[in-house]
Amino acid sequence: MTAANTTETRAMDLADFFSASEARVDRWRTLNRVAKALAGTSPGPGAAAEQQPQLLLAELAPLEDLCGYPGPRLMAQVHERLESGDRTGFARLVQRISNALLTNSYRDDPDPWRADEQSEAHVADVLPPSIGRGQARRPYCEILLVSPSERALWPEIRETFRRLRRTEDEFVYETVVVGSFEDAALAVVFNHDLQAVVISDGFAYPSPHTVPVLREILARQVQIAGAESSGDLGTTLARLVRRWRPELDVYLTTDRDVARLAGSPDAAPIRRIFYGVEEPMEIHLSILDGVKDRYETPYFDNLKRYAQRPVGTFHALPVARGKSIFKSNWIRDMGEFYGANLFLAESSATTGGLDSLLEPTGNIKVAQDKAARALGGDRSFFVTNGTSTANKIVHQALLRPDDIVLIDRDCHKSHHYGLVLAGAQPLYIDAFPLAQYSMYGSLAIKPIKKALLQLKAEGKLDRARLLVLTNCTFDGHVANVRRTMMECLAIKPDLIFLWDEAWFGFARFSPFLRRRTAMGGATALRDLMRDPEYRKRYEAFKKSVGELDPRDPKLLDMELLPDPDKVRVRVYETDSIHKSMSALRQGSIVVVADQDFHTVEASFKEAFFTHTSTSPNLQIIASIDLARRQMELEGYELVGRATQLAIETRREINTHLLISKYFRAATPAEMIPAEYRTSGFTDWGAPGWKMADTIGALDDDEFYLDPTRVTLLCGAAGYDGTQFKGLLASEHDIQINKTSRNSVLVQFNINNTRSDVAHIIKALADIARGIERRLAEGGEAEQAAFDARVKSLVEDVPDLPDFQRFHDVFRDNPKSATAEGHMREAYYMAYDAANREHVKLNSKEIDERLVKGPELVSAKFVIPYPPGFPIMVPGQVVTKEIIAFMRKLDVKEIHGYEAAKGLELLSPDALAAHGKKNSSR
Ligand SMILES: Cc1ncc(COP(=O)(O)O)c(C=O)c1O
Repeated sequence: MTAANTTETRAMDLADFFSASEARVDRWRTLNRVAKALAGTSPGPGAAAEQQPQLLLAELAPLEDLCGYPGPRLMAQVHERLESGDRTGFARLVQRISNALLTNSYRDDPDPWRADEQSEAHVADVLPPSIGRGQARRPYCEILLVSPSERALWPEIRETFRRLRRTEDEFVYETVVVGSFEDAALAVVFNHDLQAVVISDGFAYPSPHTVPVLREILARQVQIAGAESSGDLGTTLARLVRRWRPELDVYLTTDRDVARLAGSPDAAPIRRIFYGVEEPMEIHLSILDGVKDRYETPYFDNLKRYAQRPVGTFHALPVARGKSIFKSNWIRDMGEFYGANLFLAESSATTGGLDSLLEPTGNIKVAQDKAARALGGDRSFFVTNGTSTANKIVHQALLRPDDIVLIDRDCHKSHHYGLVLAGAQPLYIDAFPLAQYSMYGSLAIKPIKKALLQLKAEGKLDRARLLVLTNCTFDGHVANVRRTMMECLAIKPDLIFLWDEAWFGFARFSPFLRRRTAMGGATALRDLMRDPEYRKRYEAFKKSVGELDPRDPKLLDMELLPDPDKVRVRVYETDSIHKSMSALRQGSIVVVADQDFHTVEASFKEAFFTHTSTSPNLQIIASIDLARRQMELEGYELVGRATQLAIETRREINTHLLISKYFRAATPAEMIPAEYRTSGFTDWGAPGWKMADTIGALDDDEFYLDPTRVTLLCGAAGYDGTQFKGLLASEHDIQINKTSRNSVLVQFNINNTRSDVAHIIKALADIARGIERRLAEGGEAEQAAFDARVKSLVEDVPDLPDFQRFHDVFRDNPKSATAEGHMREAYYMAYDAANREHVKLNSKEIDERLVKGPELVSAKFVIPYPPGFPIMVPGQVVTKEIIAFMRKLDVKEIHGYEAAKGLELLSPDALAAHGKKNSSR
């Protein structure tokens, strides 16, 4: 057997790119196996048996050069033992390294750093004297040094930094030295342990290793980073590093005119500039200080201190300190289950440095500023009652009664309720349907532009204040945030955007998805509006198009450019930190990049007061602070792994001979109509697709699919979504969240492991085997019943109903081409029982009224779950399509509808009276 058939050696595609560190561990495992087989045998003539480990080591070399562990010293030992014929010693060392990499124990334990027979004295200065346990633990990380020095001098450079270690250091790091731009970029991409990069001017560009996939990515990135800097390699590299991993600290040592450089835009991505290497200790301290800045969790750190103090409490909240629990005869198990710290860290006071969420001036304020930095905004606000509340806060803060809000009807119900509270008029726009899966896609740019242009044509554009979009959607549709905002701002330069990124907070920590987050889009927009090249583009656009004529249909099909002198960048993002990061349930955040925030600061505060409990949960606040710490320090690694696992799972489902007969992971091509994928992107790892093309799709396509949200089609297995969800839970201990008529949604997040992949794949294989057996044993009748069931699930799917319109009495001008309406009036009309009527869904009355009138007008939000979007809102005219859809719905949970009573409608008399009352508008 050769190395070629024991390890994967095919060219890297996107999936492999994500999995480089997995591939590395895999190779070490193989090496371990091979070394074990060699151990105890003696080298024969020609030592042919050594060839395979040598090949594996050669494959590993380019990656090992980029990693601090095992590092050059242990790698030299590995080679030495192999070459000297010490097969047993070789096997022992390889096993130690392989295990340490597999379990990450090198980050916590000095042992893996020893070559086994080294003496303690000798190793003392080699090992990171980490690393400890509990409070004494000093987290381990690695620092990249980009050096112009000869390779022969690198050991000395590493030693210099080791000698700087002090017992009072809070973190322990190993250095990785590289000598070229390409190797530095490679290390930043592949080495998850890196926390800082120290660049010394004067290094070369090309890597001695050839890694084509890196060159593909770099070509585009370097072009961008280079275009933005004045062109020298050091600052271009700094920009590139921060673009790929904005959380990393970058330091530059140079012997150029540091004062001039420090004041130039080139220095923006650099944390500190040093003159030459005059102060290694300063560099060391700066590195530690930078890591500490991310590590410190001001609110959580203080809460830990608070919990240790002997505080006497004379306020509400008896659970604080836990005395009544630990001494209780009857609920002592509560204390045992949750542990003492939960109660010691509880208080209803805002003293003791605990700060106030409602009026933060201390550690909550600092924690919020750090979260804003981590997520790429100007400021942030912690919310302890979920994104449901975060959304309502933003609506209420920005909107006044009768403002018009363009909104995707498919968005979360908190927005619709937020609009009722704010009294703004929703202008509902329908997302593109994916009727075959009984779900909506997302809201495309064209219908938004159409609505804005109609508003302009009718002289109502000044009332259009906010556009609300979901990004990504429940099913993973990711918008082209930058382009959406650009085109809208071309029509209305001060439009505000609320991007509901409840599911998507993690995306900030993916170098691929970051550009498609609200804050990524806002940053791009700000940069672009300052860019002289963009100004030229805009001037040319203006010359060819002139003043926008809202009645010109051509505008819908061309890309509109906004006027850089008029644009106001006003972007709000809400994230459920608890959905994709390590916050406790309901931990959420509003992130803001609004250049006119000062104009809404007071109303934002009012809205925050309106919706925020005066007893916010301390643990939720602390967990948001901690989630931020984690993502800034290891988000890149965790998100990369989750993405990798999701892509592998998709691939396994769709290529497994048995599983793919009955199940399918819907690909981007299936989830996104071709018109929104102009790049032609169909799937990760599709034949002929290069990494650079995929990045092109990420940059330019109107929609992209979040790979971590896997729509698993189960209709071909004869299961509807709800049934299949039940089956996975009851028989296979697998919990999933969302279902549709013929699919379930399998979500990957930073908590998933390779064992989880095995779990779901095994479950699908077992279920598929069960179906095969049942069909084989059941004969023709079973097959016919199965085929009919599949047909009903896969083909006989109901069309998804459009919104259509509000009843005329809720519209300022029923003849208007735009569909906004006074939803709040309809909502409150229904509070009066005299205004309501009930009609049974399957009654003849409904069919008759659909033909002859009077119109059916919903009194309520009616939200079937799944799919979870409102198919009726208060004041909406109920169409025959909506009735047909509801009659076909086979879900048990329909919020706002009780089958026994029937549809709750506003009565024709009440509507007539309302119309009369408002006849003057
Ligand atoms: C798009 C979207 N926004 C907001 C929310 C509400 O978030 P939370 O559960 O944090 O209140 C959800 C919940 O599922 C959602 O899907």
